[in-house]
Amino acid sequence: MIKVTDVAYARFRAPDLDLMESFLKDFGLTRSFRTETALYMRGIDGDHHLHITELGQPAFLGFAYNAASEEDLHIISKVEGASSVEKVYEPGGGKRVTLPDPDGFLIEIVHGMDELPELPVINQFSPNFGEIRNRQGKFVRLNFAPAQCKRLGHVVLNVTNFKATDEFYKSHFGLITSDECFNDAGEICLTFNRVDRGKEYVDHHTLLTIPSPQAGLGHIAFEVQDINHIFLGHEFLKKNGHRHSWGIGRHILGSQVFDYWFDPFGFRVEHWTDGDLLNADTPVGRSSAAEALNVQWGADSSQRAT
Ligand SMILES: [Fe+2]
Repeated sequence: MIKVTDVAYARFRAPDLDLMESFLKDFGLTRSFRTETALYMRGIDGDHHLHITELGQPAFLGFAYNAASEEDLHIISKVEGASSVEKVYEPGGGKRVTLPDPDGFLIEIVHGMDELPELPVINQFSPNFGEIRNRQGKFVRLNFAPAQCKRLGHVVLNVTNFKATDEFYKSHFGLITSDECFNDAGEICLTFNRVDRGKEYVDHHTLLTIPSPQAGLGHIAFEVQDINHIFLGHEFLKKNGHRHSWGIGRHILGSQVFDYWFDPFGFRVEHWTDGDLLNADTPVGRSSAAEALNVQWGADSSQRAT
């Protein structure tokens, strides 16, 4: 078993790379590299790419985790069904091991990818909070622009065998449970899982698996700078005619302020900010499954387009 450090990128297939790139630009990603047959999009943090689209029929292929060391790649390569440690001949380079999860999604464990210079945050200002008055003698004047995505934060999968999938990710990659949710029969039917970096605080979840008759992508979620970016990005996507799914609201489990959209091929993508941070000492939360889709404020899940 290894302990992955974070989710790295997601990999899709789509028949029109121009259309995907145009949407992702409006969503707040920037082209990192493009070949004849693949598109690599980055955020403003230093990751080489967060989103890959290969040319072909629309599909969600899988996603990648960062390994802490090359040694961990050798350890995970011993798992049944895993590839050997291989050099990556794609933009960003590095090394990787690939293995299928129980539903056949391609999981890539990567290490040594190129880092790029961070990009500047636009529409950044010091907010005033009640008695904390950070912004004095300065004005908020925003440029109408996408919500710049910083990094990929989590992946949500619809899975056909919840127990096997939960076990797969925890036993191989060291994910730990943040919240367990129970159905009416009192059985665990959802878990929100995070990476284990010991005392270091990490996102409330990097992977949520939802039992479903059919395997597929629930959504992938990108962190943005603040709530202001969520609202500005919402207006920007709306004005450019993109299809909205759910939001704006604040989740209960994870506490993020969220906004969900569809890409041109029907895959759901999320902007989020201001999520809870947990470390290895944080106890497991327990709640009803209804809580998982409920909100503290904003649009509730009955208004969610699927
Ligand atoms: Fe999410």
